[in-house]
Amino acid sequence: MTTIVDDLYDRYGADEVLPGAIDHPVVRHILQHRSVRAFRDAALPSHTLETLVAAAQSAATSSNLQAWSVVAVNDPARRVRFAEWCGQQSHIVRCPLFLVWLADLARLARIADGRGLPSAALDYTEMFVLGVIDAALAAQNAVLAAEALGLGTVYIGAVRNRPLEVAAELRLPPRVFPVFGLCVGWPDEAEATAVKPRLPQAAVLHHETYHDDADAVTRYNQAMAHFYAAQQMRVRGDWSEHSARRVAGPEALTGRDVLRAAIEQRGFPLL
Ligand SMILES: Cc1cc2nc3c(=O)[nH]c(=O)nc-3n(C[C@H](O)[C@H](O)[C@H](O)COP(=O)(O)O)c2cc1C
Repeated sequence: MTTIVDDLYDRYGADEVLPGAIDHPVVRHILQHRSVRAFRDAALPSHTLETLVAAAQSAATSSNLQAWSVVAVNDPARRVRFAEWCGQQSHIVRCPLFLVWLADLARLARIADGRGLPSAALDYTEMFVLGVIDAALAAQNAVLAAEALGLGTVYIGAVRNRPLEVAAELRLPPRVFPVFGLCVGWPDEAEATAVKPRLPQAAVLHHETYHDDADAVTRYNQAMAHFYAAQQMRVRGDWSEHSARRVAGPEALTGRDVLRAAIEQRGFPLL
């Protein structure tokens, strides 16, 4: 019988002790998250999609505006195009369910129009951010629900590599923007993934005011080195090294360095 202590061990690595964490089945479920990129060729239970969307719609949403939508993409040829745009991520083609989560201000524009009211606030950066936050919270609820059903998921931020192509493919109206994709399916146990450690809490949790804790990052580099070794992952340098490379310059953004222009083109002036 494992306990939450075992889950915390996996989440933070062996050397981080977190005394007194409250044991609860839902918390343990959340702690056991890992992304899944290898899926079994098996159908999902009927009504999985509707169940996940109900979970997504149960997330909190700014002012109850519900400024998000989701597109379920089944067409194989369309999936192939998505995989190409997303750096050849083959799980997009192989997973039984592929969802594209959208920041959606078009519905609010239509509603305002229908009531003969202006909707000038939709042009502000705040409303774009609100739509992105709403979409992210909804999607994460769907992820947790999927994992509760024994399914695996992986987010696909790479849909933002080619957001205009994605938008055209999905026939998105203006004021709708693809935030990320999500692959859902039965995990292939032959390629089971492990829980990936996170930064020590000292790095992310501050009390009263912000305090930088460089030592916590050093400890994390060690925890990740153990993780890479255990998973037989060949990673150049430590976590700090490859995280630094990930932010070194616009070329590291795989096309997303022009995201602002794409967002504006999609009908968000970002005032
Ligand atoms: C918004 C977002 C976008 C992501 N995009 C991708 C992606 O395009 N491809 C991929 O393989 N993983 C993607 N991931 C998964 C992350 O790489 C993963 O969550 C991270 O490495 C931590 O691993 P874990 O989820 O297994 O704990 C994404 C995650 C998030 C939250």
